[in-house]
Amino acid sequence: MESSNSPIISFKNISREYTQNKVVTRALDNISLDIEKGDIFGLIGSSGAGKSTLLRMINALEIPTSGKVYVKGTDINGISAKQLSILRKDIGIIFQDFNLLESKNVFDNVAIPLILKRTPKNEIKARVAELLKFVGLEDKALSLPKELSGGQKQRVGIARALATKPSVLLCDEATSALDPNTTESILDLLQRVNQELNVTIIFVTHTIRVIQKICNKVAILDQGNLVEHGRVIDVFSNPKSEIARTFVETIIPSRIPQGILDELNSYHGYYKLIRIFFYAENATDDVIWQINNKLNVHTNVMFASVTEIQGLVLSIITLQITGNEDDYKKAVDYINSKHISYEEISL
Ligand SMILES: Nc1ncnc2c1ncn2[C@@H]1O[C@H](COP(=O)(O)OP(=O)(O)OP(=O)(O)O)[C@@H](O)[C@H]1O
Ligand SMILES: [Mg+2]
Repeated sequence: MESSNSPIISFKNISREYTQNKVVTRALDNISLDIEKGDIFGLIGSSGAGKSTLLRMINALEIPTSGKVYVKGTDINGISAKQLSILRKDIGIIFQDFNLLESKNVFDNVAIPLILKRTPKNEIKARVAELLKFVGLEDKALSLPKELSGGQKQRVGIARALATKPSVLLCDEATSALDPNTTESILDLLQRVNQELNVTIIFVTHTIRVIQKICNKVAILDQGNLVEHGRVIDVFSNPKSEIARTFVETIIPSRIPQGILDELNSYHGYYKLIRIFFYAENATDDVIWQINNKLNVHTNVMFASVTEIQGLVLSIITLQITGNEDDYKKAVDYINSKHISYEEISL
């Protein structure tokens, strides 16, 4: 049963296999993952990783070969068709290609879920007006989809998905057909959906920037496997898997430039390279200053990057520490005592 602290969506040991011409494809391999109420949860991975398959299991458009999917504590594949249709009204979905009815105007497109629910006409009118205002399309009620830009079409898609006041919104590559500025504005809108309407959002994407901008949690899928998941700030600041590193590297460069590598390679004294991770709340320069001044080592900043992740500033600094083994250990003890994450790098 649902309780306030249980996850709103829970995947337990989910596998999905497709058999075509006797060839078995394992689209998902034993995935266990929880999504908490209020999350904007990003599912990222390359094409064919299994993102859409996993997302579509949340509203039972896709059924696992084994494992269970719980939505608000209910095993979504263990309920009657009637119960499923009730639960689905609580789960909105938006798509990359918007899926609007081309022959219907904006008002009618948004009204569809309400008509299906047999909502009285005056209520539909009020609700659609409210939704169009929320998505910023009050003046487009009578326009046809072909008269709208891509961003406006997605706003209609969002309004339609919210018509029945769902508590969960599924987004499959919802901004992939849009230009960067329009993407930003749609992401801003989705953030408002999350914060003002308390809707939990699951966002499938292959673009790490989308995750950086709006998600608080992320799961990385690769060929059907869950390779890494957690808070965005944790995964971004310290990606463990090669694939996570590759994604994160595109927004947080951490590879040391060749010129600096050459310089390091020609250095003959004792030195260690470390990469330290600071969040906004740490006083970065103070730590480096303390190491330089209080300990018998010298630090050179070899490479630094500063990235903003949902209001938190993450700085990653690569330091060369010269001196000797004992003093290096003291510097590391000092860094540990400040509870700052770091890793030693070998060239
Ligand atoms: N109905 C199906 N029949 C056979 N194979 C399928 C089916 N649906 C998905 N697959 C396979 O399952 C794997 C995962 O597909 P999925 O659509 O979930 O990937 P994705 O991560 O969403 O990729 P993309 O970024 O391209 O949308 C792929 O290898 C795909 O070919
Ligand atoms: Mg997909």
